[in-house]
Amino acid sequence: MESKENIEIHEGLSGIYIDISSICKVDGINGKLYYRGYPIQVLAERSSFEEVCYLLLYGRLPKKQELDDFSEKLKKERSITDQTKQIITSLGRKAQALDVLRTVMSSISAYDETPYSSEESKNIEKAIRIISKTATMAAAIGRIKKGEQILEPDQSLGHAENFLFMLTGKKPDKDAAKLIDVMFILHAEHSSNASTFATLVTCSTLADIYAGVTAGVAALKGPLHGGADEAALKMMIEIGQPENTEKYIEDALAGKKKIMGFGHRVYKTYDPRARILKSYLDIVKNKSTEDIKRLIDISLRAEKMMIEKLGQSHGIWPNVDFFSGPLYMYLGIEPEMFDTVFASSRTVGWCSHVIEYWKNNKLFRPLEEYQGPLDVEYVGIEERN
Ligand code: ACO
Repeated sequence: MESKENIEIHEGLSGIYIDISSICKVDGINGKLYYRGYPIQVLAERSSFEEVCYLLLYGRLPKKQELDDFSEKLKKERSITDQTKQIITSLGRKAQALDVLRTVMSSISAYDETPYSSEESKNIEKAIRIISKTATMAAAIGRIKKGEQILEPDQSLGHAENFLFMLTGKKPDKDAAKLIDVMFILHAEHSSNASTFATLVTCSTLADIYAGVTAGVAALKGPLHGGADEAALKMMIEIGQPENTEKYIEDALAGKKKIMGFGHRVYKTYDPRARILKSYLDIVKNKSTEDIKRLIDISLRAEKMMIEKLGQSHGIWPNVDFFSGPLYMYLGIEPEMFDTVFASSRTVGWCSHVIEYWKNNKLFRPLEEYQGPLDVEYVGIEERN
């Protein structure tokens, strides 16, 4: 925070509260995360992604019949139009996966006669449509990127496992189905991070929810946010062998490079989501190929060293993106799809926040302190040297 006379500048809005919310609590000091008051580890262990969607959107856990109805509504929204498939096919090979998702996300508002609504129940219906179709669009993008046919949803499967099926063409076994569901739960929501804030800024103009979610996808792209898991995996691949890890990290830190998958604006301790993902490494390692086993070993050695070097002393700990790479690889998800998978689960967080924010909407309009000349004399183009 810089201070000039009586103006306080909060770079990156660090430390600024934008609203009161009952959706998510990130306790960065104690390393805890709650969705609607429920600890994330309990949800990851006992809930399904569908149940978590219901919880985030409606503010409470569903009863059995409510969950069945909600899951059915999600299933009914899985299909995408031929036109959407065409956009994916025409852009899919060339453009990056998340860019394709951003484009088709924007385009699906065309299939809603009234994209904007001020009614909460209508916006929940739109959210269900967005959450469901995003998974189908993301899987289709992955198929086209690999030069494969787009697959139709399998209505016998749950949301996350159906996504994995549509992407890989294989029905996940029990462990893989649980892991992808957990990945979706852990990425579903995280308070007012950059992409959620982008969504809220957009919707604070009373733009429709599709516009907001499109802005969320756009903001997710950078390596400081949704792109960090791919960057972390690339680093592990570059390290190559577990015994190279310590020297690589040492050299990177000496060269003032950031290690992707570490550090967080709010968590100054271990990100609880990273802890949950770490607990899956053992299960996955036993069933993995040698390549993935090696990546897991590298990740564990890097984690140990980073904690020793920067953990207690600088508050830089593993975040959700650090262990995701080897786990996604195990599930058959290509690195270029990581941020797109992230976006698929985060749709629920983005939509929940918009619905909450619109209860008491206020246009976002922060200030800038202008520091530049005033009343500059205009010189015609012919006279400019
Ligand atoms: N590796 C090494 N040093 C780091 C790291 C890291 N991953 N993260 C922060 N630092 C250092 C910075 O170099 C800086 O050092 P300095 O004060 O000597 O210049 C100091 O810690 C503060 O870093 P900032 O980037 O200013 O702090 P900020 O609060 O903005 O950091 C951020 C948050 C952007 C996430 C940062 O930790 C980072 O870039 N991490 C790597 C990218 C990443 O993993 N992003 C995913 C976040 S989780 C998510 O979005 C899902």
